[in-house]
Amino acid sequence: MKALRAYEYGGPEGLRLEDLADPVAGAGEVLIDVTAAGVNPIDWKVLSGAMKAFIPLPLPFTPGIEVAGTVAALGEGVTAFAVGDEVFGFINIVGGYATRAVAQVSKLALKPRTLTALQAGAVPATALTAWQALTEHAAVQPRQKVLIHGAAGGVGSMAVQIAKYLGAEVYATASAQNHAYLKALGADHIIDYTREAFEARVANVDVVLDLVGGETQNRSFAVLKKHGVLVSPVSQPSISLANDHGVTPVNFATRSDGRQLSRIAELFDKGRFSVTVQVYPLSEAKRAIERSLGRHLQGRLVLDTTA
Ligand SMILES: NC(=O)c1ccc[n+]([C@@H]2O[C@H](COP(=O)([O-])OP(=O)(O)OC[C@H]3O[C@@H](n4cnc5c(N)ncnc54)[C@H](OP(=O)(O)O)[C@@H]3O)[C@@H](O)[C@H]2O)c1
Repeated sequence: MKALRAYEYGGPEGLRLEDLADPVAGAGEVLIDVTAAGVNPIDWKVLSGAMKAFIPLPLPFTPGIEVAGTVAALGEGVTAFAVGDEVFGFINIVGGYATRAVAQVSKLALKPRTLTALQAGAVPATALTAWQALTEHAAVQPRQKVLIHGAAGGVGSMAVQIAKYLGAEVYATASAQNHAYLKALGADHIIDYTREAFEARVANVDVVLDLVGGETQNRSFAVLKKHGVLVSPVSQPSISLANDHGVTPVNFATRSDGRQLSRIAELFDKGRFSVTVQVYPLSEAKRAIERSLGRHLQGRLVLDTTA
């Protein structure tokens, strides 16, 4: 198989595309012929070494947390999938930027019929993050007001659609180039954060989903209702500001969950959700990571491992 490997922590320029022996599926795992691998901010955060205290990884490693592809072999005891099944999943913290990968079956779901493998490769981590933020951590209810920061990115574009599916009124922040995109996804109110303070356009919200962090996160306390929820997968919201405003601060790490992903896949097949991808060949992963580092994406970047 081919895989991109990092021999040291740093930027994407250090990644090398290499020929390696195929990994072997262990008990409860499958081997996947990878067609597409999503590119997520966590990939360059892991690569930079910024997370090595929490996620120690032996070097060299292959970045990439999510894939779509075809089951090529079954590990011992696997009955949930068959060879030839088209699957997708948030497989691990690394291993996705490759033509073959192994994954535990509990982390996989059948690919939505209505998505191409390239589209499906961009879905698992972003959709699970948005789903868990809104349904588990914030428990969004119909007619609640939800403000989503970073709404045009990978997680945000899924979050807008999931919040609308849950019946919320959605406020979304993005620069002007992404406003038509967010309107098409269903956002009710779109705020250009580069031209106006979001506090001037929205107040009394039930839930803020913060996908930006920093001062955007800190300023968000002021627009929440008492007993509202500020949920962020980026960083821990300030406990003291939360106490001052009487809101619940939540920081969480996304859980890989094949069952939840199956539910999300059904909703794609029912036409409730869509995904926008920008595709790079596996050999151009460095360029894709540099785009992701720029922090101004629409939808999600995905690597075509067959190109
Ligand atoms: N802890 C976890 O388990 C977990 C899981 C998933 C994601 N995350 C984190 O969540 C964050 C978002 O992930 P992602 O994949 O959605 O990132 P992404 O796809 O790179 O999102 C980029 C988006 O952020 C927007 N943006 C940048 N600055 C902004 C600002 N000040 N206000 C509003 N929007 C702004 C950009 O919109 P414009 O171009 O319009 O500016 C762009 O659409 C990342 O930090 C990621 O690491 C954590």
